[in-house]
Amino acid sequence: MRIIAAKDYNDMSRKAANIISAQVILKPDCVLGLATGSSPIGTYKQLIEWYKKGDLDFSQVKTANLDEYRGLPKSNDQSYDYFMKDNFFNHININFDNLHIPDGEEPDAEKACADYDRIVAELGGVDLQLLGMGHNGHIGFNEPSDVFAKGTNCVDLQESTIEANKRFFASIDEVPRQAYTMGIGTIMSAKKILVVVSGKDKAPIVKKAFFGPITPRVPASILQLHPDVTVIADADALSEC
Ligand code: GLP
Repeated sequence: MRIIAAKDYNDMSRKAANIISAQVILKPDCVLGLATGSSPIGTYKQLIEWYKKGDLDFSQVKTANLDEYRGLPKSNDQSYDYFMKDNFFNHININFDNLHIPDGEEPDAEKACADYDRIVAELGGVDLQLLGMGHNGHIGFNEPSDVFAKGTNCVDLQESTIEANKRFFASIDEVPRQAYTMGIGTIMSAKKILVVVSGKDKAPIVKKAFFGPITPRVPASILQLHPDVTVIADADALSEC
């Protein structure tokens, strides 16, 4: 695991965007695994800026997002489908047929998960997986658990996650209680993994996840076993290490 110290959120975002750019330049038809949340927004902004300058071409890139709320229509501005279009896809020359996100509108959880596993397999796996990390160490929506989930699964969101995500909704009652998420097994089978993490509030979990024991109670800790992980963390997030 490579840990790169960034000065602040902007520096972290630029460094992460550089790594994604290199991937797209080296393999124009690569599969990018993408994430939502506030952590990667700056990375997407930077990529859009470089695309607008003519430095990047996403026309052949394929994407597979980590997760989606179950039961939230795509048109809802808090769905991850909406988030990705709003923060990234609508601003670059990506082919919308090449974008993949678990189908939160599919009520049959078994079907939604099996479908998504098949889609990721058909893509041939993920070349570069971008990740944020929740305060409890969740990656995607893989919450602390007794086991590491292998494939796409339907999860009950923990109270702390619902609490953390309520800022995006009109009230806490509107935060969905379940989500479909790519499994830890699928995340770990990505060829490269890039984690972005910033802020003092993430400092305790950064220490636990990347320097503590490997346990499904801290899902991100499994990343310590992956052969090619880069963590880009700002000074605040590294302040307890
Ligand atoms: C959300 C997402 C995760 C994300 C995490 C952290 O619940 N499902 O993919 O990494 O929370 O979010 P943030 O970057 O806003 O702290």
